[in-house]
Amino acid sequence: MTTTTTTTRRGFVGTAHTRLEGRDKVTGAARYAGEIPFTGLAHGWLVLSTVARGRIRSLETAPVLAMPGVLAVLHHENAPRVDSDYIGMLGAPPDPSVALFQHERVPHLGWPVALVVAETSEQAREAAEALAVHYEQEPHDIAFHSGRPEAYPLDGHMPGVAEKGDLESALSAAAVVVDAEYTTPEEHHNPMEPHAATAHWDGGRLDVVDSNQGTTWVAGELSKLFSLDPAAVRVRSEHIGGGFGSKGVRAHQVAAVMAATVLQRPVRVVMTRRQMFSLAGYRSPTTQRVRLGADADGRLRALEHQCLSVTSTVHEFVEPGAGPARVMYDADAHHTANRVLRLDVPTPTWMRAPGEAPGSFALEAALDELAGKCGIDPIELRVRNEPERGPVSGLPFSSRNLLGCFREGARRFGWADRDPRPGRSRDGRWLLGTGTAAASFPVGAAPSTAALTAEPDGTFTVRIAAADIGTGARTALTLVAADALEVAPDRIRVRVGDSDFGPAMIAGGSMGTRSWAWAVLTAAGELRERLVPGAAVPPEGVTVRSDTSAAVGALASKERHSFGAQFAEVAVDAATGEVRVRRMLGVFAAGRMVNPLTARSQFVGGMVWGISMALHEEAVRDRSSGGTVGADLAGYHVATHADVPEIEAHWIDDPDPDDPVGIKGVGEIGIVGAAAAIANAVWHATGVRHRNLPIRPDRVLAGLPDGDGASRA
Ligand code: MOS
Repeated sequence: MTTTTTTTRRGFVGTAHTRLEGRDKVTGAARYAGEIPFTGLAHGWLVLSTVARGRIRSLETAPVLAMPGVLAVLHHENAPRVDSDYIGMLGAPPDPSVALFQHERVPHLGWPVALVVAETSEQAREAAEALAVHYEQEPHDIAFHSGRPEAYPLDGHMPGVAEKGDLESALSAAAVVVDAEYTTPEEHHNPMEPHAATAHWDGGRLDVVDSNQGTTWVAGELSKLFSLDPAAVRVRSEHIGGGFGSKGVRAHQVAAVMAATVLQRPVRVVMTRRQMFSLAGYRSPTTQRVRLGADADGRLRALEHQCLSVTSTVHEFVEPGAGPARVMYDADAHHTANRVLRLDVPTPTWMRAPGEAPGSFALEAALDELAGKCGIDPIELRVRNEPERGPVSGLPFSSRNLLGCFREGARRFGWADRDPRPGRSRDGRWLLGTGTAAASFPVGAAPSTAALTAEPDGTFTVRIAAADIGTGARTALTLVAADALEVAPDRIRVRVGDSDFGPAMIAGGSMGTRSWAWAVLTAAGELRERLVPGAAVPPEGVTVRSDTSAAVGALASKERHSFGAQFAEVAVDAATGEVRVRRMLGVFAAGRMVNPLTARSQFVGGMVWGISMALHEEAVRDRSSGGTVGADLAGYHVATHADVPEIEAHWIDDPDPDDPVGIKGVGEIGIVGAAAAIANAVWHATGVRHRNLPIRPDRVLAGLPDGDGASRA
């Protein structure tokens, strides 16, 4: 922390405020990227490959160019060249699907092969659908399963493999062993607002109006791709209808920039919902093997968590499902590994709680299985296995309030009254059960820049390239600034979503609000030093700009995480196999809540995702075409109101001691452990262990005694 950072007083931070832009959003006054008017706007429509592997032999562009309104067809023979050989802001090279139209190879179904640009969106679509593309098709391979020997360990934001102790001997010495394979399907982000960008050249500067999770991030990637001076690229993204990890640099912005460059007029490219299933990234399916060995009293002696995920043939991305085991539980023998398999599929990407979401399902379900085998209450099992230090890192925890979450959650949920035996509770045709699971998510902060201006009229303007992807970040930063400047929030104007405001953390990794608040606070401290008490502010205002690189970089090396305890009650229809979640409750230790109203929405939203993950979401790839079946919101069901019961999210006091506001981050932990809690509750209701998500009615029926004969766990 720098010396100029002030500490917020207990003031507006911690009190509930509705979103500042809420009225604009519900009245339609807030404009999203795809609906902002531009003079002379042309519309681009992406054409995606219809084969899963091969080469483009030819494109019949002439008939399409003769269609009404068509202005251009960009493809690998005529598109501007880009440079995709770089490491981006997040330390990774770009997903090659953004290096559009550079060669004739097709690495997966839905690979962008052309952009048709026309005067109207309808003309562009008509022409794009008429464009004949001929391929040399090659056999593709999309078979994802644990028996593939080509899988290899991959370091993501964590090591691929971490091993200590002799696993096999620890397992054979254990009194109780759980050895099980769990699977999770391919899942898609499906933000409400599709990806959309408009690019145009404005006085020698590239101006892109987009929907993304970080304007300086996307601007940086575009400047590298197109070999432009970073100062010559401006990206704006004022309102964003969700992102969840999918809204970085993607094909739509690159296509829009290419077309705007070729045509020298504004060009908009919007992804359709169906295209998003190929172009927006997704969460890899996983197969996970968990082996636990414990003493009769439940103390772990051996822990193995292997996670296999998929990546494309053109880019490496790992879904690190073995990560939570490195934080949650220790054992003499502790082996974790994240492996990937390269197939002819699109490259997956970060999706809300990457690694933790699927990894916690397997790990926390395995813990529940162990509790059952040991005859120990699942919460007590976790109490007995609380580690002193990071099981893999050996580092102390900056704070670890997991057991506090379980205590508070058990009290509120009424856990003490639970009969631990499965299949004992009924309500008519419904079998009832309850389950619990632990949650964790890493805590971090990244350098950001904020500019604060004291205006002559006594108000303050905050400028920061934050992204309010629907979380309420704008409102949270207003409260932080109000406390730091000791003025009411209505005297603060926070402007976000503009790369011209300088480098800033993205809305990602549950690190956005914390990173931005730190910068705002630092700048506020400097501004207060500059303002002379009682003196008038000059007509041009007083602006300070502050960068937290040094302060954030000085964070000591510790295990830093949020924690949580998830509880679910389910009812299982023994006749149809339908699972209904009757109630859910989560208690979190996730730092200081800046705005309890919107923080609660983050937790509840994550828990809804957990219901969706446990019971509904599943993208099915068709082996013959290599594409996703039912790539729309009818074919891919996300939990909606009718699926979601009363959800309670609570938190315990857990300010981060190393953050000037006490923030940890709340964006992702709500989904962690949620699917496991539901699966554990389904076991408690039925006596059948479901290790494959989603827990569909056919799977439930197959497991019940009157089902098709599948054996009980
Ligand atoms: Mo998130 S998956 O860090 O947007």
